Amino acid sequence: MDSIIVTGGGPLNGQIPIAGAKNACLALMPATLLSEEPLTLTNAPRLSDIRTMTELLTSLGAEVAGLQGGQVLALSSHALTNHTAEYDIVRKMRASILVLGPMLARDGQAVVSLPGGCAIGARPVDLHLRALEAMGAELDLREGYVHARAPRGLRGAVVDFPLVSVGATENALMAATLARGTSVLRNAAREPEIVDLARCLRAMGAQIEGEGSSEITIEGVARLHGATHPVVTDRIELGTYMLAPAICGGEVECLGGRIELVGAFCEKLDAAGISVEETPAGLKVTRRNGRVRAVDVVTEPFPGFPTDLQAQMMALLATTEGTSTLEERIFENRFMHAPELARMGAQIEVQGGTARVHGVERLKGAPVMATDLRASVSLILAGLAAEGETLVRRVYHLDRGYERVEEKLGGVGARIERIHGD
Ligand code: UD1
Repeated sequence: MDSIIVTGGGPLNGQIPIAGAKNACLALMPATLLSEEPLTLTNAPRLSDIRTMTELLTSLGAEVAGLQGGQVLALSSHALTNHTAEYDIVRKMRASILVLGPMLARDGQAVVSLPGGCAIGARPVDLHLRALEAMGAELDLREGYVHARAPRGLRGAVVDFPLVSVGATENALMAATLARGTSVLRNAAREPEIVDLARCLRAMGAQIEGEGSSEITIEGVARLHGATHPVVTDRIELGTYMLAPAICGGEVECLGGRIELVGAFCEKLDAAGISVEETPAGLKVTRRNGRVRAVDVVTEPFPGFPTDLQAQMMALLATTEGTSTLEERIFENRFMHAPELARMGAQIEVQGGTARVHGVERLKGAPVMATDLRASVSLILAGLAAEGETLVRRVYHLDRGYERVEEKLGGVGARIERIHGD
């Protein structure tokens, strides 16, 4: 298992290119299952989660080729040879459940293992299943698998989500494109990844309106065709790298960044005293002298502050002047980075879904353990500003969501190095 060593140091300066969004790409790839014609995704990120989705789609009979070093994915599903998504692949990544809707919509059958994924709470899939059931799917849960059938095809339905779910919205959206009649998704997720998926599906011939709002209307069509689609910028990678100069000082331009992807996050940076400026190429983040101010953060569905930036924000707040409150409203048990940050001298009290972070003058390097994807990168960010050396163990989580992290941070002056093996 690889580790990363970070040596805390001075300010960071330069540019960091931001990749295509992992979470968008993980929803766009299964869209290939909806059509016999090829789907080409450009601006794809090169990550282990993308390789896992490739493995899953290939196991179903799809063809997936990575071109230009993996930045272009050529997908094709002219005939599916298998309709079972096996536990061995699905357990590695929760987004595997996104093959359920498309497979069912196209072929009227799908068997998908219940997913695993990051250890950040229970994370059920009941909303995905309820939406498909509303469209006429017959579901049966046996031995850890969802057995789904729609012998006469899916039919359009009104789906009223009791809570906002990104994945359930994506599954329902894809399924509805080939259902007979009209579907309306109410209380739908509004994340940029949903908008990106809707755009791709529309390029494939789907009839969709309202993406980006909480009500999406889909008019089912008989078939979808091929398309080429560029994956939207990764707003979580963007926010993560915007925090690097915020924590260490300096000025970093994140190439490809756009304010509308990270609006709520930028408001918090502004309140903390960090400047964010739009440039023709992206977003420029500057921290001049002086300590950052404490701010209170509540995670919410988009356009609120993203839960996927909560751990990284905590790394910043650990060294501010005063006390900040971080309230996690999306996932229970998503403060596992707090005790690790505490090993570096952070003063954090966690009570249920709320963390109170008392800023300290400076963190100190320590050996720490990455517990999930976003936690890993928060420890790296903290290490960049800490005194001495931080050894982050178990960075395989990191490779699920961040491509070439050492190169990107090293490129702006960070002292960061990967150690292969144990
Ligand atoms: C996606 C993102 C993940 C992000 C999350 C919230 C991908 C691949 N992953 O995950 O990085 O942290 O959105 O922004 O895009 N829930 C249920 N029943 C369900 C589904 C969800 O109760 O059937 C609950 C979850 O436990 C959670 C909340 O709904 O508390 C939101 O989860 P959801 O939006 O579905 O997250 P994911 O799509 O899994």
